[in-house]
Amino acid sequence: MRHSTIRQLEVFEAIARLNSFTRAAEELFLTQPTVSMQIKKLTDDIGLPLFEQVGKKIYLTEAGKELYQTCQGIFEHFSRFEMIVSDMKGLKSGKLRLVAVTTAKYFIPRLLGMFCQQYPGIDVSLQVTNRERVLERLADNRDDLYIMGQVPDTMDAVAEVFLDNPLVVLASADHPLVNQKNISIDRLCDEFFIMREPGSGTRMATESLFTERNKKLKVRMELGSNEAIKQAIVGRLGIAVLSRHTLALDGSTGQLAELDVEGFPLKRHWYFAYPAGKQLSIVAKTFLEYLRQANDCLEDLSCRHAITGHCPLLKSGTDVQSDD
Ligand code: PGA
Repeated sequence: MRHSTIRQLEVFEAIARLNSFTRAAEELFLTQPTVSMQIKKLTDDIGLPLFEQVGKKIYLTEAGKELYQTCQGIFEHFSRFEMIVSDMKGLKSGKLRLVAVTTAKYFIPRLLGMFCQQYPGIDVSLQVTNRERVLERLADNRDDLYIMGQVPDTMDAVAEVFLDNPLVVLASADHPLVNQKNISIDRLCDEFFIMREPGSGTRMATESLFTERNKKLKVRMELGSNEAIKQAIVGRLGIAVLSRHTLALDGSTGQLAELDVEGFPLKRHWYFAYPAGKQLSIVAKTFLEYLRQANDCLEDLSCRHAITGHCPLLKSGTDVQSDD
């Protein structure tokens, strides 16, 4: 291994992470022959194959898996070193890798906008995905911080609440239940529901409420996107329980209404979490400190009050990688 270079390890790490030579080449701004050449040299040096190809897919060999773990350790140490050095120079810089559940995309970009203004040297990547995948990544310790609803007790993680997440019942603005007060759960069971996909935290909370009351939901449709669900509500396919945050960008279209249902809004919270025992990077600690102190901004984002037609919130357009 004496002749392997950091560059070769970087190329290897990107291929293993992205499961693709082409995507690794794109990410590293290299040509594909260069990427293949670097891997060939690394393989020759190690003396064992690192990847195997079955059909069109590539898989890590046992040696590849070991090297991937080693690379993650090396790069994590190296980026910690870079952050320590920039901290010594009085600069906060480095990479912050955040992963958030689908619904958090309605407020995290705005928080990040203000954070990035304050710390222009910090390069943030935000991946948005379903709760189940966030939990998998948290268990594998693949990122710096995770933003999600309640973290399961079975998980060995540190979690801190930073924001309310009220879940509300939404219907189309002309739905017959719109002006009724204190609608019972029994009455709600007569309606068709549009549900988020399995693995969603919103869905989990909705199902627990109905199970606790021994009630059965009439599910007309499952959709993996809050936006698609809102469209389906407007299209009168049914009603849905969603986070009030999902109304953040709706402006004043007034096509959706929040129903006044007993026990609602369901009180959920947003947490940031990381694996217990994880040594947080300086940048991650800086972000946590920022979240703890961003009270004014969080008050703005808290979405505590019922909406009638629109929610006076976010207007930001931060780029995020999202499944929704
Ligand atoms: P979801 O998670 O976006 O996957 O539904 C939200 C939550 O956990 O409350």
